Amino acid sequence: MTSRWMPGAASLVLLAACGSAPGRPAKGSEALAPNEVVEFRALYAANCAGCHGRQGRGGAAIGLADPVYLAIADDTSIRKVTADGVHGTAMPAFAQSAGGMLTDAQIDVITSGIRSWVRPRVLGGANPPPRVATSAGDARRGAEAFSTYCASCHGADGEGGPKGSTITNDSFLALVSDQGLRTVIIAGRADLGAPDWRGYVPGRPMSDQEVSDVVAWLASQRVQSPGQPYAAPSAAPPRSASNDAAR
Ligand code: HEC
Ligand code: HEC
Repeated sequence: MTSRWMPGAASLVLLAACGSAPGRPAKGSEALAPNEVVEFRALYAANCAGCHGRQGRGGAAIGLADPVYLAIADDTSIRKVTADGVHGTAMPAFAQSAGGMLTDAQIDVITSGIRSWVRPRVLGGANPPPRVATSAGDARRGAEAFSTYCASCHGADGEGGPKGSTITNDSFLALVSDQGLRTVIIAGRADLGAPDWRGYVPGRPMSDQEVSDVVAWLASQRVQSPGQPYAAPSAAPPRSASNDAAR
């Protein structure tokens, strides 16, 4: 009798020590529904890090923790791009109102989380050109500015060189917005070894107008049907839907 009872009592004691029955979820371990996650690190890791890099250090797309980027981007622009995406590029719209998965509250958390990466005074008083162009660019002047500031690394016509890849490739230009080009020219890509607006020609920072002009020149290099392996026939090509889809 005793010998059959004793092991049962021992396991009862063990169970009591564990504090919960096997299989019962511990307190606070319930998985949150995706729209209830409001922790910045989790939201950023799940939605942004794949392209913008861990902790905003850059990846396929610009590092959002870059000090120059944070100096030129205000909360409104970070929030708007995150919510609405950049049409015609790989940057998706995240707001539910724009077809994405995130609530307004989650987009607020992401915006202030990115802002929290700001380190004051890292630019040492240097004044970058504004993120948004203040005047239209001129492609002819842009060609000159390109030879001054860019050709040494990206090649005379932007076809690429030993120190920088091609940036006039038609597929590249089809997938990047003018604002995306402007942001990268001002902020550079420190993670990839690309200087910012101050460093293309040592001692000669680019002006707002020069950045606008270079963007206008790069934009003028876009072609009607990007990514075609064969040159377009010389007869005027019919305007097709794909021309618009590329924008
Ligand atoms: C699939 C890749 C991808 C993902 C995922 C992604 N981005 Fe982007 N993002 C891009 C690209 C590409 C651009 C540049 C678009 C352009 O050409 O203007 C960009 C641009 C941006 C910009 C604007 C930079 C500027 O020019 O001022 C912000 C802000 C931004 N992304 C925030 C986010 C946030 C926040 C998330 C996550 C919620 C996110 N992105 C997820 C690819 C991505
Ligand atoms: C000192 C060399 C150097 C100079 C000068 C330079 N770049 Fe770059 N650039 C780089 C490097 C390195 C990269 C990153 C690797 C790559 O794409 O080749 C880069 C990348 C880029 C990219 C792609 C960024 C991305 O997100 O993929 C663009 C666009 C660009 N540069 C534009 C310019 C323009 C426009 C100028 C002139 C105003 C310029 N660069 C001057 C070195 C340079």
